[in-house]
Amino acid sequence: MVKAVVLGASGGIGQPLSLLCKISTLIDDLALFDVVNTPGVAADLSHISSKAKIEGFVAAKGDFKGETEETETAKKNALSGADIVIIPAGVPRKPGMTRDDLFNINAGIVKGLVEACAKYCPKAAILVISNPVNSTVPIAAEVMKKAGVFDPKKLFGVTTLDVVRAETFIQDISGERNTDKVVVPVIGGHSGATIVPLFSQAKPSVNIPSDKLDALVHRVQFGGDEVVKAKDGAGSATLSMAYAGFRFAESVIKAMKGEKGIVEPTFVYLPGVPGGEEIQKATGVDYFSVPCELGPSGVEKATNILGSANDDEKKLIDECIKGLKTNIESGVTFATK
Ligand code: APR
Repeated sequence: MVKAVVLGASGGIGQPLSLLCKISTLIDDLALFDVVNTPGVAADLSHISSKAKIEGFVAAKGDFKGETEETETAKKNALSGADIVIIPAGVPRKPGMTRDDLFNINAGIVKGLVEACAKYCPKAAILVISNPVNSTVPIAAEVMKKAGVFDPKKLFGVTTLDVVRAETFIQDISGERNTDKVVVPVIGGHSGATIVPLFSQAKPSVNIPSDKLDALVHRVQFGGDEVVKAKDGAGSATLSMAYAGFRFAESVIKAMKGEKGIVEPTFVYLPGVPGGEEIQKATGVDYFSVPCELGPSGVEKATNILGSANDDEKKLIDECIKGLKTNIESGVTFATK
């Protein structure tokens, strides 16, 4: 029996993500938590004739900071018995908001929610979607460490949207429409120049004309801007993010259930996962997204594919590491101050 929980289930990402979880044949129990509207979202989804039993839990009215006993009980009821917790809670970046504004709000939200996970489902796999992932994952790790329940093999920063974009955009060049056959490893972090698609490692291999390569890399790194612009003030990437979050969650669940050979890039705490120390030495950072083999207890092996990058990609990796260092430090400082 698998229990999945979505924290931030009423949002732009949370609702389609919850819909996908509701129709997944891999999930038996689904709990939704948000500070608003979860009873409505859960009631709506509960009419879908699929396997998962669904329940919605909401914070006390107006308790956005999770300070009341009623909110605590809702979190406890949602999280108890969870095998996997997916966190898209937070605020998306709105016009006029700086990255720091976004960081401060989402950092606090993730900290509070992971504190609840540490209390009520310390053994669950935790999948962080809330941005900036490069900082919110270190925050989650520090919270779990402080509570004495940190299992690095079960904490994942979801970077799958970068992989999905790379796999999609490369089709324009390769013409291969069967996406099951297309694999592009994307490594590093999950924002702008910290995202490094390794097109030289694409399978099947693709010959990308050099005059098109820079634009392709840029499109993967800043794909979110394309969506924000097209939505013209009405939001950011929510549907594709929900798909990507769900795809990663299904991989984690399949591996939990014993399926072999599942490999997905994800942003992990390197010193705590098998194979991670070598990558930590090579990069000088504690967190990095690399293809990870998943198993019943989470990450079974992080694969060091940095050495296979070509010279252009190595330059991108150097750039990525500079940005990542600062992002990781901000997260650790926020959580430990
Ligand atoms: N606990 C639970 N849910 C919360 C909390 C909290 N403490 N704070 C906010 N939320 C909920 C909101 O009520 C809302 O329903 O999180 C949801 C966020 O939804 P949106 O505002 O629509 O934002 P969305 O586009 O889904 O993005 C959420 O994911 O990719 C990231 O950058 C994005 O960090 C942002 C997050």
